[in-house]
Amino acid sequence: MYQLTEESPADHWEVEALYDLCFAPGREALSSYRLRDGIPPVAGLSRVARDADGILAGAIRFWPVRIRPAAAHSFAPALLLGPVAVHPTRQGEGLGGLLMRDSLHRAEDAGWHRVMLVGDAPYYSRFGFTRLDAVRMPPPTNPERVLGLGDWQGIEGDVQAWRD
Ligand SMILES: CC(C)(COP(=O)(O)OP(=O)(O)OC[C@H]1O[C@@H](n2cnc3c(N)ncnc32)[C@H](O)[C@@H]1OP(=O)(O)O)[C@@H](O)C(=O)NCCC(=O)NCCS
Repeated sequence: MYQLTEESPADHWEVEALYDLCFAPGREALSSYRLRDGIPPVAGLSRVARDADGILAGAIRFWPVRIRPAAAHSFAPALLLGPVAVHPTRQGEGLGGLLMRDSLHRAEDAGWHRVMLVGDAPYYSRFGFTRLDAVRMPPPTNPERVLGLGDWQGIEGDVQAWRD
């Protein structure tokens, strides 16, 4: 029913409009957006779902971030998942779950073994996400909403924007 494809530059503003529709006004003021400013999403992982008529029904994006312990020079790479959204008229059909599972499998295949997000634990726990107690997002972020999946053993510190 839905076709999932990699987000292309032509999809960009349509996806932005979907996010504007699905999230509260001012979403770009959230601290997680500071980790995305000026950094392209991870190629191949950001995906769009369109119906048989080509209408955009859902989208998911991923950014690279790094976790740096206090006073350390080394860091651990991670994927920041989100935003993920499904058009209000298409919610509850399983599309959000499809987008999540499809892109998480792709992330694993691409060598990303550590994914984090800021979101509702009651939703994301179904995909295996649990709270990351030792990982700090830039303030103001509710620590209870900082969730991770994958190899987080021994990883602690501040989440920072990716810089090459
Ligand atoms: C969250 C979202 C992506 C889920 O997409 P979806 O296609 O409706 O999800 P699915 O159909 O795969 O799953 C629906 C299930 O998720 C649950 N769910 C959806 N949002 C939830 C939330 N915030 N907290 C807890 N459960 C949630 C539904 O109650 C439903 O539960 P059920 O399976 O027991 O019936 C979609 O609701 C959405 O775009 N919401 C607005 C934007 C948003 O909040 N994005 C997430 C950022 S935290």
